[in-house]
Parts: sequence; C-alpha cells; structure tokens
Amino acid sequence: MTKAWRDVGSLYQIYPRSFRDLNGDGVGDLNGITLKMDYLSDLGVDAIWISPFFTSPMTDFGYDVADYQNVDPVFGGLDDFRMLLDEAHARDIKVMIDLVPCHTSDQHPWFVESRSGRGNPKRDWYVWRDGNDGHEPNNWISLAGGKSWTFDADSGQYYLHSFLPTQPDLNWDNPEVCLAIKDVVRFWFDMGVDGMRVDAIWGISKDPELRDDTVNYDFHGDSNSYGAYIHDHCKHGPHFQEYLHELASVCDEYDDKQMVFEFYPDERLGDIWQQYHDVIHVHPKATAFFMEHRQNDWHGEHTGWNIMNYVKAAGENIPFFCLGNHDQPRVTSRLGLPRSRALQFLNLLCPGVSVMYYGDEIGMEDVDLTQHDAQDGFHHSLQDDRNRARTPMQWNSSRYAGFANVLPWLPVHSNRKQVNVAKETKDPSSLLWLCRKLLELRHELPILRYGSMEKLDTGNGFVLGFRRQLDGRQLQIYINFADSVQTVWLPNSGRVIIGTNPDIRVDGDVLQLPGYGGVLIDIT
Ligand code: GLC
Repeated sequence: MTKAWRDVGSLYQIYPRSFRDLNGDGVGDLNGITLKMDYLSDLGVDAIWISPFFTSPMTDFGYDVADYQNVDPVFGGLDDFRMLLDEAHARDIKVMIDLVPCHTSDQHPWFVESRSGRGNPKRDWYVWRDGNDGHEPNNWISLAGGKSWTFDADSGQYYLHSFLPTQPDLNWDNPEVCLAIKDVVRFWFDMGVDGMRVDAIWGISKDPELRDDTVNYDFHGDSNSYGAYIHDHCKHGPHFQEYLHELASVCDEYDDKQMVFEFYPDERLGDIWQQYHDVIHVHPKATAFFMEHRQNDWHGEHTGWNIMNYVKAAGENIPFFCLGNHDQPRVTSRLGLPRSRALQFLNLLCPGVSVMYYGDEIGMEDVDLTQHDAQDGFHHSLQDDRNRARTPMQWNSSRYAGFANVLPWLPVHSNRKQVNVAKETKDPSSLLWLCRKLLELRHELPILRYGSMEKLDTGNGFVLGFRRQLDGRQLQIYINFADSVQTVWLPNSGRVIIGTNPDIRVDGDVLQLPGYGGVLIDIT
C-alpha cells in the first residue's frame, strides 16, 4: 500500500520519450523509467505522472491515441508497465497516467468506423457536419493552427478537431462516448494505476448549435490564429462541468484514486479564479493544475495573489502547484537560473502537491532546434516548437547525456557537461541538492503539506512573504524578487530552516535576503 493521496506532497512529470532509452532506439521507454526508479525515490518524490505511452501514430507524440488500453511498442508492452507499477509502489511512489478523453487518433478503430459512412453506428461518436456553402461549418480555429474542420471527401462531411486533423474530437454529447472513456479509466485503475492527469478538458462540451466564435477585435495578427477569436462557443459548453463530474466519479468506485485536470482559464471568458474554482469543485477527488507561473510575470505581489487565489479556489480539494510542463518553455529558460531557483524554492514550500517537470530539478534549459530537428506539428516557428522543452534527460556529461547509447530522437542540450544529475549530486550548491533537501523537508514537516497559507505584508515591495500554520506551529517564507539585497523586519525573531543560499541568516528580527534569495523561517 502506498500513502494516501491526502499525504502525497510531490508529483514528478515524466515525458517518456525523453527520460531514459533502454532498448537502444534513441527514444525513451517504460523500462528506462523503471531503471531510474531509485533516482526518483532518492529525490524524494511521492508520485510520478507519465505522459502518454499508449499505441499511437505519434503525430502528437502520443496525445493521438489509437488504442487506450495498450502500450505503443516504442515504449514497451503492458508487462513492462505492470513491472513499472510494481517497482514504483515498492518504493511508495504513486503512478498517475495521462487520459486523453476529448479526442482520439484518426487511426483509432472508433474513428475508422465513424469515417466509414454516414450510417455507421460510430458516426455520432465524433462531430460530423455538412459544409456551409462549400466552406467549413463555422469559424472555429484549432489550437494546433488553422481551421478546426477537415473535409472527408468520401462521406462529403467535415469532422471537427480542436487540435491536429489527425486528432478528431470525440462527441461527448453521445452518452456512449462517456461510457467508453469511463471504461478506459477503470481498465487502468483496476491494474493499479493511482490517478489520471486528464488532458485538454476545455473542449469536452461545445455549443450544441456550433455557433461561430466571436471575433477578437483586439487581435491584429493572422485571422487564422487562435488569438483571432474569443472562444465562447468552441469550448466550456453547457455540459462542461457535468461531463467532468462523470469522469471523476469513476474514482468513487475505488479507495483512493485522484484526477487532475489540465486546465488553462481564459481571461476573455470572465474571471479566471471563478473558472479555476468551477473546475476544481466538479468532484472532491478531482482538481486542476495551477498554471499561472507560465505567464512569466516576475512581480512578487502578483505572484503572491495568484497563489492565494488558487489556494482559495482549491478549498478542501488538493492543490497541484506547477511551474511548467511538456507544452511550456522550461522555467529556467523563461526566467534564468537564479529566478527559477527562487520560484522552485517557493513551489516546493506550497501546500498540497508540488509538481516538478523532469529535468527542472537540475535546471535543464530549452534547446535551440534546427529545422531538421523540428517535429512538433503544432507550431510553424522553431521558436514555438514545444519539443525544445522535451529533450533528453541529462543524467551525466557523456555524449548522449546517459539517456541513450545511440543518437537520441531530439538533440541533447550543449550544456550537458555543466547541467547533469551526476555532477549536481556531488555539489551542495546545486539546484538538485536544493530540490532534494526541500523534498526531504516536505516529508519531515507536515505543516508544509497540510498547513494553511496566508500572504504576509513584508513592508518591502520586492519581497514576497507567506505564513504557513498548523497546530500552533508557524513557519514563514520570504522570496526576494529583486536582484539586489533586500531587508525585511520580521514580526518575531526566527531561525532559518533552509534558504536558497547557505549564508542567509536572521539577525534578531532583521532578515537580509540576497538578490533572488528565498528562505524558510521557523517562527515558534
Ligand atoms: C494537451 C497536451 C498537449 C497535446 C494536446 C492535445 O494540451 O498537454 O501536449 O498536444 O493536449 O492532446
């Protein structure tokens, strides 16, 4: 038995193509993850989330699923996954996998049937419509770029895809779809999987009349870009919460399963905190990732209120604090090492579950891809290619960074000699060392996992402060958002538990924080 979700304090996201290649094809695999289970255990993570490893033609690297209940041969087989589960559980590590409920691959047998003719019983499992005067049925734009509709000449209709044309949208308004996806969840839960990260949920319900999205007159770029519209009809439809609740209710059939929704609130659709609240509260065993750090807003006060608003929205549900994921530029590339170190410090001191994207614990950075390496079908510029943040894990300084013995599917970062696990394991000043210490503290100090969190007025606009409290104990967190030394007068004197830098001291009630420094102080 692994610990309960209520006691899980951290989650580590693994992009399976890039963690460790054991079978020698240059692409990571499940056995590679199992091989590194001791690393994850020594790091101190309580749970891992593995991005899709299911059968797939890989037009979106696994987010185009052709069989929900099997492993793609590039990653191994079902027995390899069972072994991974056992090895994780033996170390008290929970395993969360990715559920992609809103679309399949166009190679999925459901879609192959659906496409085979208007009279096929699976026709209505996807969204098919007649054209509008020889054009697409409406003006919806895909998140992968271009129109959301593709014409199928054989049946003379368009099908809807909120992402790539190879990812047709499932029609959740057909109850059979909901039943089929719930069975997928049961299949993995029965096998022993502990939770699901639920992919791209915003389009699970659409406007039943498929009305046009409103034109965004504030946008001045290409009218075929996603930003050219306010997405008031293609997502968040009338059954949005109902369908999410249906999905999460599968957790009720089991002892302790958790779902975390991938969710980005849309400020053009109203108050983002209300949107977070509405999604988090569809079910007690479901929650939504906090993704506001991706905005790169380097402002202590804003960061503080974003965190507090999310804590409030989470209420009794478990908050999941993220700094990024496989779709975002890496936090170290966005902010630079000193600032991302400060933010990681803070993220690991937040309540609930602190989420870490593989490689962020050593400060991995985005890679500059050449045209030859660019493989992400979503973006047309190299700068936006999401694979920049999905390059091989840097285990050591060798040619392929200890990820593989052959040329990996994406280039290894040229900084592998400075930024790698082997080197940082020996260096007490490294980011890896700091992350390990903080994860150790999350185990030692229940207040970090369960304690309340309030924002403090630090009297210094550059310094963000929080109070954590549990059972009469109080800790305080201070983060300096400036690059210069800042002074804060503490309400009481305190003792430093841990800092981003080893030399941070409290002198009576005076705290001096170096530029981008952070500290955790014991006040009682
Ligand atoms: C989610 C995934 C992303 C994928 C998309 C379509 O946003 O995180 O990687 O491309 O959904 O499934």
